[in-house]
Amino acid sequence: MKNDFDAYSDFYDKWNETFTSDIPLWLEYAKKCGSPVLELCCGTGRILIPLAKEGIEISGLDVSKKMLDKAKEKMKKEATDVRKRVTLHQADMRNFNLKKKFHLIFIPYNSFQVLLSIEEQNGCLNSAYKHLTAQGKLMISIFHPDLSRAEGVLRSEGDILKDYPQSGDMTQIYSNQFYDKAKQIIKVRFFVDTNKSDGKFFRKTIDLKMRYFFPAEFDRILYSNGFETEELFGDYDKSPLKNTSPFMIFVAKKRS
Ligand SMILES: C[S@@+](CC[C@H](N)C(=O)[O-])C[C@H]1O[C@@H](n2cnc3c(N)ncnc32)[C@H](O)[C@@H]1O
Repeated sequence: MKNDFDAYSDFYDKWNETFTSDIPLWLEYAKKCGSPVLELCCGTGRILIPLAKEGIEISGLDVSKKMLDKAKEKMKKEATDVRKRVTLHQADMRNFNLKKKFHLIFIPYNSFQVLLSIEEQNGCLNSAYKHLTAQGKLMISIFHPDLSRAEGVLRSEGDILKDYPQSGDMTQIYSNQFYDKAKQIIKVRFFVDTNKSDGKFFRKTIDLKMRYFFPAEFDRILYSNGFETEELFGDYDKSPLKNTSPFMIFVAKKRS
């Protein structure tokens, strides 16, 4: 099973419309580090566009043409000065060359976790290293594994999407997950259920595999790729990582 990121492009923004709580943290570090900054896995520009609106010169890289097309569509509605601050690249984070250096490179919203093998993870960190200025920061936000979360349980993934895909339609997204503990991989299946306005029902399923990491392990991965962790947060409010924290947000610099 190969991850298919184009599959989310149509409903990604509607689905994540209310998720904005991470943006202030990315903005804070973008301002602190200074422009230009690079977002790896920028998707539809959920974070990238608000940062550009705040005056940040930002490049976004993503492998999915369809996700980037959505970002471009949204950019059209922005003022010229905002558009000028944004550069989009269709490329693979496992190996990229933008011929430019950045003061901040960040990988938000668990996106690094789609890199399942050590080779893929090293490839991405190696490319990031080459694109980071000497004093620059690398930030990666991944989830803090909670292996007590029941497997196979169907969970709602947020509010009903009204008028999606068409006017009068109602779409609800659910997911379930299973662990491959030997490989440290979570297998997630999303069920995108649509009740059409004419009473017909459609289900689309999307599979996603994500590698989960433990805190010391990730610290070590960063270290072995030339970085050292400076700060580690457990949530977007910068609270320290604790047992119950939902995320692990690493702030790293180049190792001297
Ligand atoms: C969860 S979305 C995050 C989008 C955006 N950063 C946000 O927070 O809304 C993950 C994104 O990672 C992208 N992606 C997955 N694998 C990638 C790869 N190897 N190289 C570049 N982008 C990748 C997908 O296309 C998708 O747009």
